[in-house]
Amino acid sequence: MKFFIDTANLAQIKEANDLGILDGVTTNPSLMAKEGIKGEAAVMQHYIDICNIVDGDVSAEVISTDFAGMVAEGEKLAALHENIVVKIPMIKDGVKAIKYFTSKGIRTNCTLVFGAGQAILAAKAGATYISPFVGRLDDISYDGMDLIAQISQIFAVQGYQTQILAASIRNPVHIIKSAEMGAHVITSPLASILALLNHPLTDKGLAQFLADHAKSNA
Ligand code: E4P
Repeated sequence: MKFFIDTANLAQIKEANDLGILDGVTTNPSLMAKEGIKGEAAVMQHYIDICNIVDGDVSAEVISTDFAGMVAEGEKLAALHENIVVKIPMIKDGVKAIKYFTSKGIRTNCTLVFGAGQAILAAKAGATYISPFVGRLDDISYDGMDLIAQISQIFAVQGYQTQILAASIRNPVHIIKSAEMGAHVITSPLASILALLNHPLTDKGLAQFLADHAKSNA
């Protein structure tokens, strides 16, 4: 399973990349706004900066919601760097745009996926990735992991090549469950990735080893 970081914060991207386990980055307009990145030129430069840190796929989201607008924006984004994946919302024109980009050899990430039917449509259109939002489903009392399991089963049975990118990850359990359920990728905030490191018995065991070493070498 690939690990993407879900942020536009360059320091966090560098920290995750330095860990040696980072395979890519996802961003969205809210994450760009959070970093204070405003205006087309600044947004484009920020994507290039991210691509220069990470050797892997970087999802850059379109703002347009009509087919022509998504195509124009997506082509501009894809031309920025070979690692750019055009992120397209799961709407009618979005499906058409995914099909168009697929025919042009431009990779896509279909975002805002909350149901298996949407996942099937995006896969049929040839999306490289689909992003089911696990945490946002949990927020409204659905189990987001059930959707990952369902899509995983459908894609296996149907032989779809589209990769399941579990998004809206909120905690380390989401990452572990995504791995169990066959997600190809997770995209997560840095905190949840780092939380995978933690176990009290590791800390206790290490403290004991170091104390015993110190005693016997005193
Ligand atoms: C990923 O591509 C999404 O933009 C992101 O995971 C959404 O996460 P959130 O629900 O925490 O905003």
